[in-house]
Amino acid sequence: MKLTQLSLTLLSLMPTYGACSIIVGNETDLSIQVRSVVDLYPFGVDTPDYTLFDIIFTDDVFVDYSASGAQPTRGIPAFVESLSESRTAQNYTTMHHFGSQSVNISTAVNASVDTYVIATFFGHGAREGQIYTSYQTFSDDLVFDGKQWKIYQRKLQVFGQAGNPDVIFG
Ligand SMILES: *[C@@H]1O[C@H](CO)[C@@H](O)[C@H](O)[C@H]1NC(C)=O
Ligand SMILES: *[C@@H]1O[C@H](CO)[C@@H](O)[C@H](O)[C@H]1NC(C)=O
Ligand SMILES: *[C@@H]1O[C@H](CO)[C@@H](O)[C@H](O)[C@H]1NC(C)=O
Ligand SMILES: *[C@@H]1O[C@H](CO)[C@@H](O)[C@H](O)[C@H]1NC(C)=O
Repeated sequence: MKLTQLSLTLLSLMPTYGACSIIVGNETDLSIQVRSVVDLYPFGVDTPDYTLFDIIFTDDVFVDYSASGAQPTRGIPAFVESLSESRTAQNYTTMHHFGSQSVNISTAVNASVDTYVIATFFGHGAREGQIYTSYQTFSDDLVFDGKQWKIYQRKLQVFGQAGNPDVIFG
């Protein structure tokens, strides 16, 4: 079973919360559900399987990766384009390793998650064997649309970077 199939299966096994459950529900289960949406991201971006983004992000998601030198994007197609353009131009693959997370459920329909991330970029072709590593935080804002939680805003913070920047910047 592919990782993406596994994560989709896990997602489909998760209980669906109605708006009522959100208000009276178990905070622990709720934060697990919110976190699960964020945690799907590596399976989407690393495989890559950009179709997963439809269940992770709202259609008009605002992604601000300016801390890593990228232009902020609005909407899933623009975000996918910026990721795949860079990947194809420089010929690299990625692995995003998620660490500690802090979840804040502020209203029945609003939550935010901060996630520690180690993003590793692996060079191929002329840069086979070379890596570039970025130590980051994703600050995600999520909204509950009555059926599921989705990220509508992401801001990247970078703690430090190491390795060969040519792997991603050419
Ligand atoms: C919430 O879920 C946790 C973990 O499953 C459980 O230990 C706790 O008793 C639940 N709390 C309520 C109020 O249902
Ligand atoms: C949770 O989010 C709300 C709304 O953004 C904010 O006012 C509050 O300070 C946050 N709480 C924590 C513990 O970060
Ligand atoms: C809740 O989410 C909406 C986006 O759907 C946003 O406009 C609003 O500012 C958020 N409210 C809080 C308290 O974070
Ligand atoms: C990218 O790397 C792969 C694996 O080493 C190689 O087969 C391919 O030719 C490379 N593509 C380009 C455009 O350099």
